[in-house]
Amino acid sequence: MTKTPKRYTITAALPYANGPVHIGHLAGVYLPADIYVRYLRSQNRDVKFVCGSDEHGVPITIRAKKEGITPQQAVDKYHVLIKQSFEDFNISFDIYSRTSSDTHREIASGFFKKLYDEGKFVEQTSEQYYDEKAQQFLADRYIVGTCPKCGNENAYGDQCESCGTSLNATDLINPKSTLSGAVPVMRETKHWYLPLNEYEPWLREWIIDGHKQDWKTNVYGQCKSWIDQGLQPRAVTRDLDWGVPVPVEGAEGKVLYVWFDAPIGYISATKDLTPEWETYWKDPESKLVHFIGKDNIVFHCIIFPSMLKAHGDYVLPDNVPANEFLNLEGDKISTSRNWAVWLHEYLQDFEGKGDVLRYVLCANAPENKDNDFTWKDFQARNNNELLAILGNFINRAVVLTQKYYEGAVPTRGELTDYDKEVLAQLEKFPASIADLIERYRFRDALSELMNLARLGNKYLADTEPWKLIKTDAERVKTIMNIALQISASLNILMEPFLPTAAQKLSNMLNKPIGKWAEAGAADLLSDGHVIGTPELMFEKIEDAAVDAQVQKLLDTKKANDAANAVVEPAKEDITFDDFTKMDIRVGTILEAEKVAKTKKLLKLKIDTGIDQRTVVSGIAEFFNPEDIIGQQVSILVNLAPRDIRGITSQGMILMAEDADGSLAFVQPGKKLKNGSVVR
Ligand code: 2FM
Ligand code: ZN
Repeated sequence: MTKTPKRYTITAALPYANGPVHIGHLAGVYLPADIYVRYLRSQNRDVKFVCGSDEHGVPITIRAKKEGITPQQAVDKYHVLIKQSFEDFNISFDIYSRTSSDTHREIASGFFKKLYDEGKFVEQTSEQYYDEKAQQFLADRYIVGTCPKCGNENAYGDQCESCGTSLNATDLINPKSTLSGAVPVMRETKHWYLPLNEYEPWLREWIIDGHKQDWKTNVYGQCKSWIDQGLQPRAVTRDLDWGVPVPVEGAEGKVLYVWFDAPIGYISATKDLTPEWETYWKDPESKLVHFIGKDNIVFHCIIFPSMLKAHGDYVLPDNVPANEFLNLEGDKISTSRNWAVWLHEYLQDFEGKGDVLRYVLCANAPENKDNDFTWKDFQARNNNELLAILGNFINRAVVLTQKYYEGAVPTRGELTDYDKEVLAQLEKFPASIADLIERYRFRDALSELMNLARLGNKYLADTEPWKLIKTDAERVKTIMNIALQISASLNILMEPFLPTAAQKLSNMLNKPIGKWAEAGAADLLSDGHVIGTPELMFEKIEDAAVDAQVQKLLDTKKANDAANAVVEPAKEDITFDDFTKMDIRVGTILEAEKVAKTKKLLKLKIDTGIDQRTVVSGIAEFFNPEDIIGQQVSILVNLAPRDIRGITSQGMILMAEDADGSLAFVQPGKKLKNGSVVR
């Protein structure tokens, strides 16, 4: 058995303060971290859980520019919003700090200065893109151009989002500055590099040899592939006016690279939290664990550890249990496309249901592969699992106790073999759930927790106290006592996953939530203890509620499609005579009916002013026949008649097609006489 660490330093990735947080953030990082920490606290371990907003770097300056505000205003706005969302979902940070704080500037500066003074950096002058109009060097995201791989004309200087290729700004064809639109020029600039290549042998030993067994395979695999490809020196400074200034001479106008300062933010947050911050970071008996998403693996497993190693005073991460990504209804979550479930919006629509989302995101967490969140699954997990299994069991236990014993826990009589078996099983749950949590297998841990609720349900279903009460009231006392003991254990074991529901249950049992070591016992609730009033733990989620969410996403998709739709290029020129050959008139629809056995066709009778004629039109998917009778339309009357499905169509109704493919009539702006000429 491994020795229990003396203390834990648990970090959760600092989110960029450039937008609100969504379900992907929660599922990937903050929820597993919070479950882990709540579990550790329940085990009475010494733990500090730190996080904060990542307020530097290009992601912030780009967002500020987009919103027409200063970077400071942008981070002030989003820091508050993000912090609130975490509080609303009961993410129990000991501190939620920010990297624009004075403490952070001091710690990050000092960190850089120490490495600089000790000659740990390589100084190098190179040519980089410069925007002469904006008078600024261009960070990767400030340059767009054509991807040399796929031809996407809007590839960024570091990556093409169309084909996923990772790029250097100099790879782009026809580069352009996103600041001014100017063609950037190359200009010399000096930067400091962390020579990762020098750390390669050590990283190899530490990760590839040392963590093959205990790091997740997705994390280990990514690290191995990076190291095997060979590591290059990495610039840790940038030409930017937003960030922690580089604290050395000759570095005016330069700031620390955001990925240099952000992870140091974990240390500064701890300093803001406790005067003993150094113990949590420097004592080898402190266990450091970073919770992150998979896009952050290289920074937390290779770059930050190399920085810590170079510094020399700090402990290294014991584990980095990174998750994969969560998709939404089959599509990648995307802030720019608004394809997300934003945490603050979720709580507006599902007030008081924070735990439901916690449950669904943990049950379906992208622990080993990307996973999909769907609203149907959300509804099903609430109704069929939380409500039908956990809620149902607790409800029966508490309601029957109130009904039969006015809330006083009855005394057990002699135990049957079945009772003994159930109590023996109950005893094993705390250890099995703990084991899974300690190995960062939160999905399995949650499923094991639900198995305990299943055990309770089965016990009641098998023993049927509601029937037995009429024939063997003494036996019912034993059954209800056991059901209540299971409920009390569930209360302790569920707290890391479902803190609000756990508090509710604690009120119902009229007993504070105990510690992990107490769970599994057969006597958590003593005889005669009076429990509280039953409440419903979970509510049914109706179809209408999830349908509304699906509709919201469909609307988003529609808006995206419309925004992205390419306007058809103009056709070749024609002469005025060509145009006047077309005889277009205003007509009125007199009759409309669907053409049998077709999806798209309507048969229309039109009064063209000249005559009344039949036209077959492919508009049935967009209009109900009864809705369009009486409408005026434009009709090309001299189109040669054509046979369509056995009907002779005489002319064509003019339609305009929207970006999403939907159709609208081209109509006169006021009611006109039928036969009026359109020219
Ligand atoms: O990917 C991100 O959102 C980064 N802001 C994470 C930083 S984690 C840490 F290093 F601070
Ligand atoms: Zn590409």
